[in-house]
Amino acid sequence: MYSVLNNMANNIQSGIRKDLYRLLTDSSQYDVSISKSKNRVFLDAYGDEIIDFASGNYLGFDKRQDDLLPQAIKATMDYGLHTGRARLTGHYQICHELEERLADFIGAEDALITTNTYLGCIGIIPALVEHNDLIVMDKSAHAIMFHGAQLARDKGAILHSYEHNDLNQLESILKKYQNARHKLICLDGVYSITGNYLNLAELQSLAVKYNAILFIDDAHGFGLVGSPRNNPYGNGSGIVNYLDLSYENIFYIAGAAKNMGAAMAFAGVSRELKRTLLAFSRPLDYSQQPIPFAFGILNAGLDLLEKEGDIIKSHVHKLTRSLIVGLENAGFETYNNNGFPIVSVRIPNTEMLVEFSKILYKKYGLYVTSCPYPTMPKGHECIRMTVTALHEPGHINKAIQAFSDYRESLLNKEIS
Ligand SMILES: Cc1ncc(COP(=O)(O)O)c(C=O)c1O
Repeated sequence: MYSVLNNMANNIQSGIRKDLYRLLTDSSQYDVSISKSKNRVFLDAYGDEIIDFASGNYLGFDKRQDDLLPQAIKATMDYGLHTGRARLTGHYQICHELEERLADFIGAEDALITTNTYLGCIGIIPALVEHNDLIVMDKSAHAIMFHGAQLARDKGAILHSYEHNDLNQLESILKKYQNARHKLICLDGVYSITGNYLNLAELQSLAVKYNAILFIDDAHGFGLVGSPRNNPYGNGSGIVNYLDLSYENIFYIAGAAKNMGAAMAFAGVSRELKRTLLAFSRPLDYSQQPIPFAFGILNAGLDLLEKEGDIIKSHVHKLTRSLIVGLENAGFETYNNNGFPIVSVRIPNTEMLVEFSKILYKKYGLYVTSCPYPTMPKGHECIRMTVTALHEPGHINKAIQAFSDYRESLLNKEIS
C-alpha cells in the first residue's frame, strides 16, 4: 500500500545525508524509546537502565513538577488548554505579563515570545532582511539560523559564512557589503557543541563599526549564565549580561526549553521592532503560539531560578568540573574552556564515533549525543555529554570509566 511513499523514503535515504543517516540509525542512539524515567536515568524499550547524558535540562527543572505544575495548572484553568489563534491576532494577558517579566530580567525594552527557538529564528531572520541585505553566519552557528538565512536568501538576501571566530574574515565580508541596508551576523551565545562562549565584546565593536546586527541565539545560556554572578555561571539573564555588555546592535533570542523546562522561546526587542515582527515574522501569523500551560511553567521556573538558582548551579558546576578533569586525566581532549555543562570529546573519525557510541549505550548504559560528519567537520567529530543537576557523582564516574576503558582499548590495539 505504501510502495510510493517507501520508494520516496529510499530515495531520500540515498541522498546527501546518506552517510549520516546510516551511521545514526546504526548507533543505538537513534529515536530511543523511553518507557519510564527517574531523574536522569530512564528505562528503554528493552527494560535496560540508561543514564541520560543527552538532556539539555541543565538545571533539572524538567523534573520539578511539584514546583512548576501549580502555576501551569492555574494558567490552564484561567485561560484554557490552548490559545487557538496565531500570536499576530491576539494573546492572553499571561503572555503579556511574561514578556514584561522576561524583558525586565534580561534588561531589554520588551520581549516577544515565540513557540520555540527554531520557529523564532526561521521567522525572524527572513523578516529582518530584504533583497541585497547581508547575512553572515559563523560556521559553528546552530543550523536553525542557517535555515532562517536560507529563507532570507529566497527573498534575495546575500548569504555568507566565515570560519568560527575568524574576525578578520568576518570583517572582510562586512567591508565588501558595507553598503547593504541591513547586515546580520548570526552566532550562538554558547556554542552547542563546545559549551564555549562567543567573544562578544570584539564582535560587538565590529558590528557597531559596520552598522551590523549581531543575531545571538542563546538557547543554552538563558537561565544558566548571566549577571550578577553569585554562582559560577550567574543569574540566568543571558550571555549578553554575563559578558557585561549592552544590547547595542544586538538581536537576542533565547530558548526556555533547556534551562527552564518550558516549551517556548523569546526575543529581546525594542517595542517598535516587536510591533513590526508580529506582522512580518511568518510563524507568528501562520502558526499557533505556546499554550497557557507553558506560560505557567516559565513563570514558575523564573521563581524557582530566583529561589534556588545559586545552589543548583554550584552543584552543576562541581559535577561538570569533575567530568572534565576525569576525562582529561584519562587522556581525552575536551573542547570546554569555561565549565559550561556541555562536555564534548573529540573522536578521531565518524566510524570510530559510531562504534564507540554503540559501546557506550549497550555496555555502559550511557546515552550521549553523537556528532558525526557532516554534523561536524571531518576531524572534529565528537561525543557530546550534557551535565545536569540531576546527575549523580556515580553517573559521572561511570562516564569517566567508559572513556578510560575506551582509551585503553585503543592503546592495546595500537600495540598489537
Ligand atoms: C543553539 C541552539 N539553538 C536552538 C535550539 C533549538 O531550540 P528550540 O528547541 O527552542 O527550538 C538548539 C537545540 O538544541 C540549540 O542548540
